[in-house]
Amino acid sequence: MKGIILAGGLGSRLFPLTKITNKHLLPVYNRPMIHWPLLALVEAGVRDIMIVTGGNFAGAFLQLLGNGREFGLHDIHYTYQEGEGGIAAALSLAEHFVDGDRCCVILGDNVVEKSIKPYVEAYARQKSGAHIVLRDVPDPERFGVCEFDSTGAIKSIIEKPKNPPSNKAVTGIYMYDEYVWEVIKTLKPSGRGELEITDVNNAYLRRGDLGYSQMDGWWTDAGTFESLLRASNLVSDREAIAPFTAGLPPEVEAR
Ligand code: G1P
Repeated sequence: MKGIILAGGLGSRLFPLTKITNKHLLPVYNRPMIHWPLLALVEAGVRDIMIVTGGNFAGAFLQLLGNGREFGLHDIHYTYQEGEGGIAAALSLAEHFVDGDRCCVILGDNVVEKSIKPYVEAYARQKSGAHIVLRDVPDPERFGVCEFDSTGAIKSIIEKPKNPPSNKAVTGIYMYDEYVWEVIKTLKPSGRGELEITDVNNAYLRRGDLGYSQMDGWWTDAGTFESLLRASNLVSDREAIAPFTAGLPPEVEAR
């Protein structure tokens, strides 16, 4: 299983913090934001990782992470997204790297309390398809949200609905098989001019091949002032009790 961290975009919701750096390099408590999704993948046993970045500060990722030695990695792969295009467009740049394998995609601004290993293992039990991770949230209108049918199965996923049909948000942790590349090629830009990851997940849903897990523990994005502050506070509380790196193999240095 390959790992992909999506860390492009202009971070316009965090302007002027993002005037002189990439959003994913801003601090979330005691580490640059991107460390957290990277640690989540490494802790889940994913070792072959690509970072998709873009914008004016892409070189800083190499300066910060290098070959990922402090994460116990042999190397890190990088690719560059020209312009903006949405999450699915950013993901399409990793097709060559994934090379027919399965992949676990995590958004560079998503921070989790606990291990994502159970979801990776749940996906490994799936013969094919995709797997998403859901979390109850108080503000579903900010996310992709699940609509359920009367049997409790997911009927559709709606991106940032004005009237959310449930409070189950789709977190930024996605697992896909090789069908994902075919789907992305069929996508059309949404109202906000992006190739939406929600459209990819709905395509798997229509095929009857979308599995899901419920997130255990807190989850937050960090792409707005409020969520960036919340992420730092949540991580600070968690690190005081149970540092995330405590579960990592000994070759992974704390910092
Ligand atoms: C994106 C996705 C959305 C998902 C969210 C998770 O939103 O489009 O479906 O729920 O990430 O962080 P965006 O960050 O583009 O607003």
